[in-house]
Amino acid sequence: MFQPASRIANIASPATIAMAARARELKAEGKDIISLALGQPDFASPPQALEGAIEEVRAGHTGYPPIPGQKSLLEAVAHKFKRDNELDVSLSQLMVANGGKQIIFNAFMASIEQGDEVIVPSPYWVSYPLIAQMFGGKAVHVPCYEHNNFRLDPADLAKAITPKTRWIVLNFPNNPTGAILEKSDLEAIAEVIRKAPHVLVMSDEIYEHLTFDGKKHLSLAQVAPDLMDRILIVNGVSKAYAMTGWRVGFAAGPEKLIKAMIKVQGNVSSGICTLAQGGACAALNGNLTEVEAMRNVYEKRRNRAVEFLRAIDGVSCAMPQGAFYAYPGFAAIMNKRTASGRLVTNDVELAEALLEEQHLATVPGSAFGLGPHLRLSFAASEQQLSEAYERLKRFVESFS
Ligand SMILES: Cc1ncc(COP(=O)(O)O)c(C=O)c1O
Repeated sequence: MFQPASRIANIASPATIAMAARARELKAEGKDIISLALGQPDFASPPQALEGAIEEVRAGHTGYPPIPGQKSLLEAVAHKFKRDNELDVSLSQLMVANGGKQIIFNAFMASIEQGDEVIVPSPYWVSYPLIAQMFGGKAVHVPCYEHNNFRLDPADLAKAITPKTRWIVLNFPNNPTGAILEKSDLEAIAEVIRKAPHVLVMSDEIYEHLTFDGKKHLSLAQVAPDLMDRILIVNGVSKAYAMTGWRVGFAAGPEKLIKAMIKVQGNVSSGICTLAQGGACAALNGNLTEVEAMRNVYEKRRNRAVEFLRAIDGVSCAMPQGAFYAYPGFAAIMNKRTASGRLVTNDVELAEALLEEQHLATVPGSAFGLGPHLRLSFAASEQQLSEAYERLKRFVESFS
């Protein structure tokens, strides 16, 4: 009988995926399910991306591509870093992979030894601790608090660093909280990192274009160029350009690390699909008009989401300043019963009850390291969102 290898046996499947799978099952049974569980833009990919992919086919670029990425795409990525982050990077500091997720996989596989610590501020995107664990790494969490708008406190970060720390993961704008870091936060964090020269920093900036209230994303490397030889910037076209299915992520980092990551990828998947590379290249070389149009829509939806959630008795909600998720808290209704008599003691039970009773799929906050919260994506149509919020309100108000 098959037994999974020990490195995999104890690794949980991401709760985001589990929740989406249960929602699909109920849908297949004919239930009217609304899913706000996945981080998937509800927009079409930009037309220039489609054209870029078709161009690749027409040009007959259907053979194995170079492992780090096609030169044209690497040049487009370098141009993006200059345009958006004021960073000068050479092509040898860059690589592309099958999504930002594979960039993270490559980086951790290339660098983590058994017992190394990876500092992951919480709440966090589920994949960092899970991937680190695959390579014997141990996630160390630094809580970010709702009352502080989920911003990372540099003093808390400093306290978590030990001689075994290999990586600090920064993800701002944050999934799931939408928190961002201001220049002063980044300067203080850079000071902490300067004092720990053995530590690498993974700065996941995949939501960089999706910021609200007129705030602009700043990259840590921009604020602290002296740390560039220890920062790996993770990014990709999935979120900003609504290109999740194209599977194109990219990274900029120290040459030696990138070289090791390319070695990993060469043995895992080789260079990524040439058509997707053509599409991503065209998207990055185009202007940011479509991205800005989508950002505008997300901001309006963010405003509505927060207004609606805050108006429900028993729900707290910090203001997300980026990305496309709300992260409301439900402490006030824990250990109470739903209308059908189901006792809810934590956010996993809460998400299950919400799905079963109101057919609304969300993700329990404990999957991201902080409950009792739910993550609600607002990357869905206005009509779906209105109906979803009504269902949530009915659900919460039914507790007694
Ligand atoms: C914070 C964060 N980083 C990276 C990714 C990976 O995105 P992809 O692999 O689609 O590029 C995601 C996707 O949900 C994410 O939320």
